[in-house]
Amino acid sequence: MNRSVTVVGGGMITHDQLLPSLYQLRREGRIGEIAVCGQRASTLRTLAESAQLNQAFPGQRFTAYPPLSETDERVEPQLYRQVIAALAPYNIVIIALPDHLHFDAILCALRANQHVITVKPMVLTARESLEIEREARERGLVVAIEYHKRFDDRSLMARSRYRDGMFGNFRLGTAALFEKWYYRHSNFQNWCTTDRSDAFTYIGCHYVDLVHFITGLLPTSVSLCGIREKYPNGNEGYLWTDARVRWDNGAILNVQNGLGFPDEAPGTNTQGIRMYFSGDHGGGYLQHDDQYRGLRYSYAVRPQGPGSTQFAEPSPDYFQYVDLGDGGLTPVGYGFRSVQYLVTQCLRAAGMRDIEERRKFLQTLDDDGIVATPANSRYNERVIEAARLSLAHDGKEFTLGAPTLAS
Ligand SMILES: NC(=O)c1ccc[n+]([C@@H]2O[C@H](COP(=O)([O-])OP(=O)(O)OC[C@H]3O[C@@H](n4cnc5c(N)ncnc54)[C@H](O)[C@@H]3O)[C@@H](O)[C@H]2O)c1
Repeated sequence: MNRSVTVVGGGMITHDQLLPSLYQLRREGRIGEIAVCGQRASTLRTLAESAQLNQAFPGQRFTAYPPLSETDERVEPQLYRQVIAALAPYNIVIIALPDHLHFDAILCALRANQHVITVKPMVLTARESLEIEREARERGLVVAIEYHKRFDDRSLMARSRYRDGMFGNFRLGTAALFEKWYYRHSNFQNWCTTDRSDAFTYIGCHYVDLVHFITGLLPTSVSLCGIREKYPNGNEGYLWTDARVRWDNGAILNVQNGLGFPDEAPGTNTQGIRMYFSGDHGGGYLQHDDQYRGLRYSYAVRPQGPGSTQFAEPSPDYFQYVDLGDGGLTPVGYGFRSVQYLVTQCLRAAGMRDIEERRKFLQTLDDDGIVATPANSRYNERVIEAARLSLAHDGKEFTLGAPTLAS
């Protein structure tokens, strides 16, 4: 019997990465029914009518909650609880809600005995992460956090080479991820506000996670400065941030983030990392251009859509559709591979009847460190917690763990 997958939240990440990856997995016969639960039917109609998804997956549909036919524009923020409660145990729930809503939704899914995949950041505090870990371990359920940069081959290459001692000891690094300006006009303006999130919490966590993923080092303290700007709807967000993260070997990583890469600039964003290392007999160096500026296209017509440019430098790495015949399009890239890998781990656990066997499997996932789990990636929540405190104290440095002011 194929397991079902229920996605909670039908916004951008569901459209751009999660749903097409799930459609592909269903095409390959790996999973069964796919459902998406939103809080309004209109959001799900947009998803169901997506020209891109319909072109890539002709004939594929998801079950919509609320149903697509519902014309009432009522907002139903609690609907996912009913939808999850009605699932048979040991299926898969994917959480794709705004950051501050992940905690309740993950617990709700675990208490209904579902394996869980959640978009990053899993939660915003270490206490919540601990609670999720306890609940999942108790029930022998997978909780996998979707840090898709881990499944970019260049991250896996760097990880092996660092761990083989080829680079030396990490000393200084600088990372940046800037989304396009038009993001300010999206639903982000309703939730990525100063009281709940900021550019670092939203996207900076990718590079903190990646530095740990590559080196195995743990962050020890954070200082975060932010610049407030208004969204078009008048809400305020920290739309530019600058972080300094110290690591347990004394290394320092600077991370800059923003919703401000010009709409007219080529590519969907700009992002990358440089790391400098000390070896026994000389320095080491690593540079990843993660937006990958190797392709240059100048189209004869201007493509539609926000942030689309006539001169474009598309990245083939994260998520693209390619025509491999068969009447549709096939998703490729580390965005797909990440979902595929995490779903595969959930399916492996779902095939184990014995809870002790599942617990042993969870321990293997924790120890291998390829999948980010609550136990092996809690440093991310600690960093976010300290970073939010630092932001509120104008960039003062906070140590991780018990959040106290560094002297
Ligand atoms: N690079 C990445 O890994 C990446 C990229 C984008 C987003 N994300 C993460 O994905 C999450 C969602 O981001 P997004 O870009 O899709 O945002 P979005 O604002 O486009 O979508 C969120 C959706 O959740 C819906 N929602 C809110 N409350 C709900 C509820 N109670 N029940 C059902 N639906 C509800 C909203 O209506 C919206 O459609 C965030 O946590 C974000 O950080 C990760």
